[in-house]
Amino acid sequence: MNILVAASEMVPFCKTGGLADVAGALSQSVARLGHGVCLFLPSYRAIEGGSFPLKAVPGRYWVPIGHELVPATLSTASWGAVTVYFIQCPKYFAREGLYQAGGKDYDDNDERFIFFCRAVLEGAKFVGFKPDVVHCHDWQTALIPAYLKTLYQIDAFYAKAKSLLTIHNIAYQGMFSKDALFLAGFGWVDFTPDRLEYYGGFNFLKAGLVFADALTTVSPTYAQEIQSSPEFGRGMEGILKHRRAELRGILNGIDVEIWNPETDQFLARAYDADGAPAGKAANKAALRAECGLKGKPNVPLIGVVSRLDSQKGLDVALEVVADILARGGAELILLGAGDPALAQAYAQLVRDHPGAACTRNGFDEALSHRIYAAADLFLMPSRFEPCGLGQMIAMRYGTLPVVTRTGGLADTVREDSPPGPPNGFVAPKCAREDLAAAMTRALSVCARLPERKARVAAAMSQDFSWRQSAARYADLYRAMAGASS
Ligand code: ADP
Ligand code: GLC
Repeated sequence: MNILVAASEMVPFCKTGGLADVAGALSQSVARLGHGVCLFLPSYRAIEGGSFPLKAVPGRYWVPIGHELVPATLSTASWGAVTVYFIQCPKYFAREGLYQAGGKDYDDNDERFIFFCRAVLEGAKFVGFKPDVVHCHDWQTALIPAYLKTLYQIDAFYAKAKSLLTIHNIAYQGMFSKDALFLAGFGWVDFTPDRLEYYGGFNFLKAGLVFADALTTVSPTYAQEIQSSPEFGRGMEGILKHRRAELRGILNGIDVEIWNPETDQFLARAYDADGAPAGKAANKAALRAECGLKGKPNVPLIGVVSRLDSQKGLDVALEVVADILARGGAELILLGAGDPALAQAYAQLVRDHPGAACTRNGFDEALSHRIYAAADLFLMPSRFEPCGLGQMIAMRYGTLPVVTRTGGLADTVREDSPPGPPNGFVAPKCAREDLAAAMTRALSVCARLPERKARVAAAMSQDFSWRQSAARYADLYRAMAGASS
């Protein structure tokens, strides 16, 4: 089959979060199963100035935006088994950030991603890649299913194409003013509550939820949660319930080549499961020296690698961690990018506990690897978590996750629930008392070596590769494509 993937970020070219990891690794895995995979990305400034050899595609094509035709050009790269096309249009994409600058979303994100969605559909025609399935990810690409069922319905090129929308995080919906409707080329007939209208505005994610032939989200538990209440469904629970027959949860994997403690070039010392105690100790000593941690060397090191966003529950964890640091029960290293107030709060924690805690602001791929390897515990106390990759990466590096029972965290981390032996610690909710209790249990297991060893072994022996999940996506593509013939 031919699978056209549209995403707004992809490892190794650009990344703000797990979406990029998934778009990259899933596409590779599907291509390795023997399918033709073409992936379209915006050509952000960081990509054009980056170290990847890109080849220009001769010629240009035109993308309708409102009453204008905007020119687009393409460059391309082969990445593993996947062909990647970068859509170039400097006025939209040659900017400092992917979606925002200085903590503020770009004012024209509606226009930028309307352009991207249409430029993907026109671009695939331009290069002659006729898809059986168009796989879209999140709100930035969610207009594509709506286009296929409206403006492109009579386009012979797409006559057989089916669309799949994967929801990575329903909290981000791309909600814009109704004026964007005309930029996108839709008309008033489409502006109804059962199509594109949402509380008087134009909601891009809703467009995808309404029009895609199939919907997936990134864990089975999140698939249930988003139908269950406004807290999780963020206003989309009604439409999701309506479409429940077409919605399923497929658990993400991680790229086990990038995230491999045996070969990881960023580490002070590589290690496998047998060598984990010594290997982790060497990495911990190196990271403590790097970060100026000087407490008792034998206390557990708690690691955090996260976007700083209320989703991640780190505000609730702050006092819990402060209490532990005050008792000298652990050290903390936090790497985070996002909310300045939260970054400030953790910076204060460092000032209050000099030598016992360290925070690094910003996005740092290399440091993230060193934290996953060096930490004893990985804290991820999310209020909600569609899947979460951090806890899986941590487990692969023998670092025990301390998480809340939600979304993909509930599907991957076990404390006392079958199937399988315990591989981490689970708080029922993102509440101070629950997190404190889970941390207490975690710290006491860290002190009991045989029990700790058993959990680390259970964590490291799990299969987090994309093998099974890519096969599930391939089955779904096949079922969708079959349904058209
Ligand atoms: P989300 O996509 O909601 O941010 P995930 O756990 O699914 O959460 O994925 C986060 C990905 O981004 C992981 O690969 C994690 O290592 C990485 N990451 C998050 N924050 C940072 C950071 N500040 N620096 C480097 N990598 C980060
Ligand atoms: C989103 C979610 C995260 C998920 C990632 C990849 O960013 O917040 O839970 O792991 O997408 O699907």
